Amino acid sequence: MSILEFKNPYQGLSPTKVSLLHNSTLDATALANIGFFSTVDRESTHILLTDSNVAASMLGELKELFNNLRIKIHPIIVAPGEPSKTIQAYNYVLDSCADIGITKESTVIGIGGGVIKDLSGFLASTLLRGLNLVLIPTTVLAQVDAAIDWRHSLNLPHGKNLIGSILAPAEILINAGFLKLLNDRWVRDGLAESIKIALCQSPDFLTLLSQANPSDFTWLCRVIDISVSEKVVAMNRDSAPDQAMLVYGHAIGHAIEHLSEGELGHGEAISIGMSVTAELSFLAGLSDELTLKAHYDVFTRFGLPTIVPDKYDLDHIWSIIRADKRFRGDKMWAPSVKTVGTLVVDNAGKCFLPFGEEIVLRALELNKSHGKTTRRLAQD
Ligand SMILES: NC(=O)c1ccc[n+]([C@@H]2O[C@H](COP(=O)([O-])OP(=O)(O)OC[C@H]3O[C@@H](n4cnc5c(N)ncnc54)[C@H](O)[C@@H]3O)[C@@H](O)[C@H]2O)c1
Repeated sequence: MSILEFKNPYQGLSPTKVSLLHNSTLDATALANIGFFSTVDRESTHILLTDSNVAASMLGELKELFNNLRIKIHPIIVAPGEPSKTIQAYNYVLDSCADIGITKESTVIGIGGGVIKDLSGFLASTLLRGLNLVLIPTTVLAQVDAAIDWRHSLNLPHGKNLIGSILAPAEILINAGFLKLLNDRWVRDGLAESIKIALCQSPDFLTLLSQANPSDFTWLCRVIDISVSEKVVAMNRDSAPDQAMLVYGHAIGHAIEHLSEGELGHGEAISIGMSVTAELSFLAGLSDELTLKAHYDVFTRFGLPTIVPDKYDLDHIWSIIRADKRFRGDKMWAPSVKTVGTLVVDNAGKCFLPFGEEIVLRALELNKSHGKTTRRLAQD
């Protein structure tokens, strides 16, 4: 087992402990690795927040494990997917908490994918003005990226992640053994965040990603370990390129994810977002053709989508991009990859660059025609 730490964004508060162990399934030994559980108040009731898919496969076992640890838990189960990152889902969870007598000593334990991480983080940071948070991520996406964070967001009807809060989790347990029931689509979806890290920061990591097979468990554990340590380094350093890397391809990807109304996973949407952003960088003269090709190649290798679906109107995509947190002065502000492993940094040391409507729409069009060419060649 390896243990990493990332800093608390509030000075003087404890860092977050991240434990990585991959050799076990969900059992008492795995949970006992969460040192924080030895300190939790045995008198208070703790909230175990999860979704119905995770509950179906793990809740029985989890209840028994917490019972063995003499930790009183109250499970709250929400629907799977993005509908649980809404104010309505948050209200439902608050109502459930009101019924059970939560105290300041209660901990929120989020067990699930990135959606559960965001909902439990937002809950822990707001209920009684702040409770402790423990995260046990169960998707690749949440293990390699979403859980290693102190930002927690909910969606609004007009865009993704528009309400949020900041709270450093007390502890995070990453165990690839928890992924055994995750289907192939969600494994690949999660790898999009590892590919993001590689495209922005590490050509060697991109080579490792390009060479292997997601169904090889040993390879997957290695990819998770590298992604987690890169993210932990980025969280601790918190430099301009680190902050930019975290959201590479997301301004466009989030708009596409929002438009898809659950049809596309987060990783699938940001794969398209990164491909369009690569078109944008090439068009703006910020990168070369090889870098553009590297984007399409790596996502295609993992069976991830790269092309904006035909049914999405480009002006509609732009109107949703306008709701992005960083949109200002009629411009989308987004990072660009210069060459694989390096982000564009401007003269002021900033990585968020302004792109106007015309060039973004042109990049979206080029992306759509890239798709048509590929499809035509495939049919020939
Ligand atoms: N910094 C951050 O906070 C951050 C970073 C990246 C993504 N995110 C957010 O994460 C969300 C996406 O996360 P996700 O891709 O994990 O989606 P998700 O949480 O919806 O999980 C995907 C699917 O996998 C199922 N599932 C979860 N664990 C399982 C398991 N072990 N076995 C079988 N099925 C399982 C879920 O029920 C769901 O149907 C998005 O809302 C995104 O905005 C947040």
